Amino acid sequence: MQLATEDNITELAAARWATAHDPRTAEVLSALVKHLHAFAREVRLTEAEWMAAVQWLTRTGQVCDDKREEFILASDVLGLSMLVVQMNHRLDPAATPATVLGPFHIPGSPGLEFGGDMSDGLPGTPLFVHGTVRDLDGKPVGGAVLDVWQADTDGLYESQVAEADEARLRAKYTTREDGTYCVRTIAPLGYSIPMDGPVGELIDRTDISQFRPAHIHFLIDEPGYEPLITHLFQEGADYLDSDVVFGTKQELVVAFTEREPGPTPDGGESASPFLVAEYDFVLQPKG
Ligand code: BEZ
Ligand code: FE
Repeated sequence: MQLATEDNITELAAARWATAHDPRTAEVLSALVKHLHAFAREVRLTEAEWMAAVQWLTRTGQVCDDKREEFILASDVLGLSMLVVQMNHRLDPAATPATVLGPFHIPGSPGLEFGGDMSDGLPGTPLFVHGTVRDLDGKPVGGAVLDVWQADTDGLYESQVAEADEARLRAKYTTREDGTYCVRTIAPLGYSIPMDGPVGELIDRTDISQFRPAHIHFLIDEPGYEPLITHLFQEGADYLDSDVVFGTKQELVVAFTEREPGPTPDGGESASPFLVAEYDFVLQPKG
């Protein structure tokens, strides 16, 4: 019989969790135990601090529901989400880089035509985002679905707007045979992550800026290619170099160019000024 002491408890607990039936689960859980213990030893965790952490985790779980993902938010602000993204998407430098999914993606967005307006009359500066989806050899990818979502000009996503009863600032666009796509929307603004929960509580105790730079989210999951979850950020936007979730990448920063009334990228006409962002997504073949 070997009873636990301060010196041997890490070894005992790691060995116990290494008995998980699935080898990967055994590897992950025993490593987790070792790192948790090393952390507690390093900071000499007090019982009060341990209890405060447990209560913080409890509150984080309690505010989660089908619309609020406080654990994802916690992972995002700790830089863990972005670390996992970077390790799992070591793409060719010519491919469009991935960034965080974030807590606001809603599956099942409605399909819109080339140039269809996903802002549907919401206030904001009209913006066209257009370009081509290609593979690494420059070949256009026709029929690819771009799942697009963004915040409104108050920085709120659909799931944060109680009265939203239909798709709001989100839609799916399918590329034409020549790989081209065109999204019509309103210009996004920088926004604060939700600060009224346990994550905000922690951020309020630091000098961390709680803001994200203006961006639009894209998810392209085309058979034969690595799924791409990414954003396009507005060039010159505030917070590009202090993104609270570490999600900004230089390759994803795009000029939003002002245009006078006249022809629009979808082949139509605008009677008022608008913005245009042009971006070609480059997909990496699977494997
Ligand atoms: C977002 O861009 O939607 C987002 C990402 C991470 C945390 C909060 C929001
Ligand atoms: Fe966002």
